[in-house]
Amino acid sequence: MEYEYSIQDVPTIGNGHLAKGRWENLDALWRAAEPFTRVRANDVHLPLSLHYAELLLDEHPEADALVTRIAILLHDTGWARVDEEKIMSEGFQVDDWQKSDIRVQHEIEGCNIAREILPGLGYDDVLIGKVTAIIDGHDTRAEHYSIEDALVRDADRLWRFAPTGLAFSALWFNQTPNQIRKKLESDIYPQLVTEAARRIAQAELSFTITLLQLDVL
Ligand SMILES: [Fe+2]
Ligand SMILES: [Fe+2]
Repeated sequence: MEYEYSIQDVPTIGNGHLAKGRWENLDALWRAAEPFTRVRANDVHLPLSLHYAELLLDEHPEADALVTRIAILLHDTGWARVDEEKIMSEGFQVDDWQKSDIRVQHEIEGCNIAREILPGLGYDDVLIGKVTAIIDGHDTRAEHYSIEDALVRDADRLWRFAPTGLAFSALWFNQTPNQIRKKLESDIYPQLVTEAARRIAQAELSFTITLLQLDVL
């Protein structure tokens, strides 16, 4: 991972920017999803990830903003329906954590929750199908099938480059902040699909390194 962009160069959450785009209000969806957000810090991860998705949508006007925003908002709600003990023991602290059964299960349950709550909010089957196609496999498959899928994958990863996401990762993986930083640089950054996400990741992580003294600690 190279650092060509810093917090001075890229509008991102770390320098106080939110997306410029104006899109459909999702408050009703947030309220419907709320009961499924109180595990695994999803009441922090999901709102922050939606902001990152919207920053990416500013750079990708060709993407369907509604599909992207609904998919990222709901993508991890399925954690609410899997065994909480197993979230830590199997979901994070095993070698091949990205492919563990519990991860597949949270994707399946996320799709179920989307199918349960979206029709009542007036969303049609076509949109629901596009949303569930993204949620299904968002952690366990390597490839993406559409620009919306790509933006969700990138937004899901971007919060980890900022102090909040990095701190939760350190806690969940039982590692130091600097160990997480090295993983981000070697493993997660190369997984980013879009150039826009790579710029944001560079800006956020270089600032996180400064804030958390990661070149010292
Ligand atoms: Fe997930
Ligand atoms: Fe996620």
